[in-house]
Formats: sequence, structure tokens, C-alpha cells
Amino acid sequence: MSCPTTDNQQNCLSSGQLQGEPPLGRELTERLLAISHEYCEAEGGCHGPDHTERVYNLALHIGRLMNARLDILSAAALLHDIGRSHEMLSQGKICHATKGAEMSLTILTDLNFSPEMQGAILHCIEAHRYRNNKVPETLEAKILFDADKLDSIGAIGIGRAFLFAGQVGARLHNRGVDVANTSSYSTEDTAYREFLVKLCKIKDKMLTPEGKRLAAERHEFMELFFKRLDKEIHGSPPKNPDDNSR
Ligand SMILES: [Fe+2]
Ligand SMILES: [Fe+2]
Repeated sequence: MSCPTTDNQQNCLSSGQLQGEPPLGRELTERLLAISHEYCEAEGGCHGPDHTERVYNLALHIGRLMNARLDILSAAALLHDIGRSHEMLSQGKICHATKGAEMSLTILTDLNFSPEMQGAILHCIEAHRYRNNKVPETLEAKILFDADKLDSIGAIGIGRAFLFAGQVGARLHNRGVDVANTSSYSTEDTAYREFLVKLCKIKDKMLTPEGKRLAAERHEFMELFFKRLDKEIHGSPPKNPDDNSR
């Protein structure tokens, strides 16, 4: 696996293989990575270890541009989704950010992180969804929010949306259904519904300048894709294969 061009090559985890010196040091980073893999392995392609590694790389890329605390950002990125299985099993009733912060407290204490670092890392994890009045307040929390959200849009976002739809048994496309009358985790929870309900709004939620820049570019590609999908399913095939206009 190669890193996207926007990512710093030295921080590419490449399926668990660290390259270069990570901000937290190699040993500690590998410990956190192993813990994260253990909790996220069962989450498949949507929130599994690959997602964690992409968020880690993106967070460090933005963090470097903004002179953020990369040690805090690294730990928070690696642990941010460890509570995910609780949310999946409860069909959304348990917030994985809150649960993940609870679980991370024990992990960080066992690994001898200072109380100051623990507080900063837990805030990033707890606020990474920007829900339930948990607002990202620090620079590192804002960066983690952006990195996590960026991984749900663009080509990766499209791929993840279809994977998730497959996990809940949803259809390929549901243009004829009023999305206002559908619910998540249902068989109508298609990738297109995800785009209309959530993904198309993400670019306006970014909190950092680099997050905004990357989100605008990814959004543009996503719009093009869903327009094309809709056309192939409900319209006539294009005369010119390169013509994506409707
Ligand atoms: Fe998350
Ligand atoms: Fe995430």
C-alpha cells in the first residue's frame, strides 16, 4: 500500500509496518497500533484497522501544517474508534466516541501516559464525532475530527459507504425512496442515502484550512460519482463513455 500524495511518506503505517520515526516513538506507536487492531479487526472495511491507519496519516499531515502536538494526535488517531463494536452491536445506541474514551483511559494509564497527555488525548477521542455536546475544543481535537471525516468522503468514502450498506444488507441504489422516510441500519441504508443524508454535508463542517481544502476536492469527486451512478441505473447509457453530463 502506498500513501496518498498528501500524506507524509514517513508516517505511512502500511498495514502495520512503520516507516520512519513516528512522533510517539516506534515501540509505543506499535503497541497502540496493536491495541487498535485488536479492537477494530472485526469492524471490516468501514471502521477496521485500515481506516485507523488512514486517519492517523491524514491527522499527522494536517498536524504538521498546523504545528499541532503530534504525540497527542498520534495516540488519539490510533485509539479513536476502539469503541466502535459497542456502537455496532447496539445499532447506534451506544456512542463509540464516549465508549472509546472510557476504554482509552485504562489503556493510557497502563502505558504510563502523563495525566496532562491523557486528558488531551481523551478529549480528542470523545469529541471526534462532534455530537452530544462534545465539541472539539483543542487544535488536536479539531484535526482528528477533520481527518476522520475526510476518510468518509471522496473515493474512499464511496467505497466505505457501499461496504457499510453491504454489512446491513441494503440495496445498491434507492433513488425511488424518499430518504426522509428511511432509517440508518435498515435495508434502505444505501450508499446513495448515506451521500444524501450525511456525506454531501461534510465539506461544510471541516474545522481546519487543510481539512476544508481536501474536503472540497473529495466532495467534487463524490458528486460526480453519484450523478453517474444515478444515470446508469435510471437513465440511458452515455453516447460518449467520457461524457458524464446528464
Ligand atoms: Fe469514529
Ligand atoms: Fe473513525
